[in-house]
Amino acid sequence: VTRWLVTGAGGQLGRDAVSALGDRDVVALTRAELDLADPAAVHDAVLAFRPDVILNTGAYTAVDAAEIDEARAHAVNAVGPRALAESAERLGSVLIQVSTDYVFAGDADRPYPEDAPTAPRSAYGRTKAAGERAVLETSARAYVVRTAWVYGAGGANFVKTMVRLERERSRVSVVADQRGSPTWSWQLAQGLVALGELRPDPGIYHCTNAGETSWHGLARAVFEELGADPDRVDATTTAAFPRPAPRPAYSVLAATRWQAAGLAPMPPWRAALSRAFATVGEQLGVGEA
Ligand SMILES: NC(=O)c1ccc[n+]([C@@H]2O[C@H](COP(=O)([O-])OP(=O)(O)OC[C@H]3O[C@@H](n4cnc5c(N)ncnc54)[C@H](OP(=O)(O)O)[C@@H]3O)[C@@H](O)[C@H]2O)c1
Repeated sequence: VTRWLVTGAGGQLGRDAVSALGDRDVVALTRAELDLADPAAVHDAVLAFRPDVILNTGAYTAVDAAEIDEARAHAVNAVGPRALAESAERLGSVLIQVSTDYVFAGDADRPYPEDAPTAPRSAYGRTKAAGERAVLETSARAYVVRTAWVYGAGGANFVKTMVRLERERSRVSVVADQRGSPTWSWQLAQGLVALGELRPDPGIYHCTNAGETSWHGLARAVFEELGADPDRVDATTTAAFPRPAPRPAYSVLAATRWQAAGLAPMPPWRAALSRAFATVGEQLGVGEA
C-alpha cells in the first residue's frame, strides 16, 4: 500500500485532497499539527509516519500581507518545502509541492510552458519560486505542480466573495485586465492524487482547469450560476484598484507535460464552475441569508 502524508491539510486544497484520497492510507496534518516553518518538526513528522507520497498543500497564501512579511512567507513557502524534500529523500519517498502562477511575471501572451523562466513580481511569488527551487534541487523524485485561481468549498476565495456580493449589492466592479484559469480545488485534488499514483517523470507540471478568462469573466459566470443578471458585473482595470502586491496580468499555464504523461485532462473552467455549484453550492455560500 501507498501511504500519503498531506501537510497544510486544513486549507482549501488540503481538505479536498484528504477527501479525494478517500479510503487510502492517509495521514493529514493541519498547521496546528505540523508547522512547516519548523524544519525539525517537519523531519520528525515525516520520519515518524514514513509516507510514500507527501502532498504539501500548506503555504503562506496571504499575497498582500507577504509584501511586509516576506521572511515569514519564505519560512513557510521555501524553508518548509526544503525540509519536506530532505526527509522525503531520506526515505526514498515522493514529494508533491503545490506552486503557483505567481512565479511568472505575467507579461506573456500565450500559455506559460513548464520550463518558462520564472520572474515573480511579488514577495509571495518570490517565496513560492524559492520553494520550487529548494524542492527540485533537494530531491530528484519531487514534483512541483503549479496551479492558479483556486476556489473550493473549504476556503476563502473569489467565487465565494462574488456569491456574497451578488446578494449584497446591485452592481459590482471586477478587473477585466487580468487573465488566468479558474480552478476548482476538488478537481485539482483529484489530479494531484492521480499524479501521485501514476508517478510520471519528476519535475514541474501545470494543473489548472482548462481555458482562460478574466476575473470579470469569472464573476459574470458566478452570477449566471446564481440565476442573476451577469450584466450587473462591471468591468474595471487593475490600475483603478491598486493593491500592495502586483498580480500577473496574464498567467495561463500550458499543461503540456501533464497531458504527455497520460494524466486525465482537466475539465474546462466553465464546466468545472457549474459542477462546483451543483455539488458544493451551499458551501460556496448559495442560499445564505
Ligand atoms: N488559492 C489560490 O488561488 C492558489 C493559486 C495558485 C496556487 N495556490 C497554491 O495552492 C496551495 C493551496 O492553497 P489554498 O488555496 O488551499 O490556500 P489556503 O486555503 O490558504 O491553504 C493553505 C493552508 O496552509 C496552512 N499554513 C499556513 N502556514 C502554515 C504553516 N506554517 N505550517 C503549516 N501549514 C500552514 C494554512 O493554515 P492557516 O489557514 O491556519 O493559516 C492553510 O490551512 C498553496 O501551495 C498555494 O500557494 C493557491
